Amino acid sequence: MGTMGLLALVATVCLLLPTQNRAQLQVGFYNRSCPNAEALVRQAVTAAFANNSGIAPGLIRLHFHDCFVRGCDASVLLSVNPGGGDTERVAEPNNPSLRGFEVIDAAKAAVEAACPRTVSCADILAFAARDSVNLTGNYLYAVPAGRRDGNVSRADDARENLPGPNSTATLLVERFKNKTLTAEEMVVLSGSHTIGRSHCDSFLFRNRERLASGTISPAYQALLEALCPANTSQFTPVTTDMDLSTPAVLDNNYYKLLPLNLGLHFSDDQLIRNATLAPSVSAFAANETLWKDKFAAAMIKMGNIEVMTGNQGEVRLNCSVVNPSSSMIEMILPAGFRRWHCSRRCGLHELIIMS
Ligand code: HEM
Ligand SMILES: *[C@@H]1O[C@H](CO)[C@@H](O)[C@H](O)[C@H]1NC(C)=O
Ligand SMILES: *[C@@H]1O[C@H](CO)[C@@H](O)[C@H](O)[C@H]1NC(C)=O
Ligand SMILES: *[C@@H]1O[C@H](CO)[C@@H](O)[C@H](O)[C@H]1NC(C)=O
Ligand SMILES: *[C@@H]1O[C@H](CO)[C@@H](O)[C@H](O)[C@H]1NC(C)=O
Ligand SMILES: *[C@@H]1O[C@H](CO)[C@@H](O)[C@H](O)[C@H]1NC(C)=O
Ligand SMILES: *[C@@H]1O[C@H](CO)[C@@H](O)[C@H](O)[C@H]1NC(C)=O
Ligand SMILES: *[C@@H]1O[C@H](CO)[C@@H](O)[C@H](O)[C@H]1NC(C)=O
Ligand SMILES: *[C@@H]1O[C@H](CO)[C@@H](O)[C@H](O)[C@H]1NC(C)=O
Ligand SMILES: *[C@@H]1O[C@H](CO)[C@@H](O)[C@H](O)[C@H]1NC(C)=O
Ligand SMILES: *[C@@H]1O[C@H](CO)[C@@H](O)[C@H](O)[C@H]1NC(C)=O
Repeated sequence: MGTMGLLALVATVCLLLPTQNRAQLQVGFYNRSCPNAEALVRQAVTAAFANNSGIAPGLIRLHFHDCFVRGCDASVLLSVNPGGGDTERVAEPNNPSLRGFEVIDAAKAAVEAACPRTVSCADILAFAARDSVNLTGNYLYAVPAGRRDGNVSRADDARENLPGPNSTATLLVERFKNKTLTAEEMVVLSGSHTIGRSHCDSFLFRNRERLASGTISPAYQALLEALCPANTSQFTPVTTDMDLSTPAVLDNNYYKLLPLNLGLHFSDDQLIRNATLAPSVSAFAANETLWKDKFAAAMIKMGNIEVMTGNQGEVRLNCSVVNPSSSMIEMILPAGFRRWHCSRRCGLHELIIMS
């Protein structure tokens, strides 16, 4: 069949393709188009974690900061905004504290080598966050996939949508509600602060106020004061573990520390100062299984925020930059067609041979 024949076939197939019902993410989305996708991501995350265990909290937070800003579309990974202006990456909530970008790049390289232009950066990030939960919390949840990557990244979107360490309970609840997450889910997801680190400028200033109001342990604050430079407006790379007793384990210890006035951020402490939220903190402190079940469910729900699917957006080739221009394949064939007909790889070349 010649080129005209191929185009006629493509046109016919396009007409027959269902156009609705593409909004749903699916577990095993890459079963046929890239069966090793999830294993390859897991390998990259596991290797990076073996070298630096801080990668796990880094990747969980990266997924959160992606999903809260323009949805889970890997916009947080872009180092250039094609529309001009500052990217999410340089906004205060992200810079310089976000980490794990190079792990996503390594996972993407492995996945591209196995199945070119098939697996989105947003899905890789969701898988990597799940693998990080597995590595630190020793349990597993299935990640629905099929996200597409966005082409816009604006610093102001990060500032307007992400909560901060100075946020009150009311603002925390509002920002999560704005993203379809309930007050309880906000408390559930904050439990990620049972692993990972924080920089002095995220907590020191507000904790001096907490000392005055008796909402932080004086011994804990003394320890933090000794760690950080006295001048809170001077940036320092110094960090401290958020969970001071089991900093590398995804357990329910976060909720046990809060009533002891050992929550690191003002925002963490807010969870026990608010009568609506405090009962959830007590419930999760008392029952770790309860929290872990709810955490997995809330991570999946967070992974669904404002996602693009089907032909929306693109599958980025390099997670740091949008694709140079729409590829021929992206232009002429919808994703569904490519998945049915190309098990391992699918370029224009293979399609013409196939025809
Ligand atoms: C409730 C509102 C939240 C606020 C105000 C908040 C704030 C923060 C801050 C200030 C840090 C320390 C950043 C630094 O200075 O290095 C941090 C770290 C972290 N956050 Fe949150 N966070 C929130 C919710 C979440 C959620 C929903 C998740 C994940 C589902 C999450 C996961 C993490 C992790 C894993 C770290 C450690 C990062 C690392 O070690 O690199 N946080 N968060
Ligand atoms: C992929 O395979 C798994 C395991 O057999 C199955 O649970 C899942 O529903 C499949 N997903 C799709 C979209 O085919
Ligand atoms: C290992 O981790 C360190 C930071 O702890 C980093 O500088 C280095 O590049 C990592 N090496 C590899 C091979 O990932
Ligand atoms: C982003 O993609 C949309 C369509 O998905 C397009 O309309 C828009 O022009 C693109 N923007 C940039 C900056 O590339
Ligand atoms: C962690 O992930 C691995 C690989 O998928 C799996 O075999 C293992 O059972 C998981 N751990 C737990 C406790 O679920
Ligand atoms: C809710 O989300 C919209 C859209 O991203 C944003 O403009 C607005 O500032 C958000 N509101 C709050 C309270 O975070
Ligand atoms: C928290 O609030 C204090 C006082 O307004 C400010 O100096 C500090 O920069 C704020 N920190 C963050 C991370 O927003
Ligand atoms: C604190 O640090 C800032 C920024 O480095 C500097 O401008 C300011 O003078 C310092 N304040 C004091 C009291 O040292
Ligand atoms: C507690 O949080 C709720 C939101 O869940 C808010 O409506 C309420 O005003 C807060 N209460 C106090 C005392 O801040
Ligand atoms: C803890 O929570 C789990 C999961 O919801 C539940 O099955 C179990 O009965 C709870 N345990 C206690 C002691 O309440
Ligand atoms: C991805 O893009 C960035 C930014 O342009 C570049 O530095 C990097 O080398 C690219 N990675 C690959 C694998 O091409």
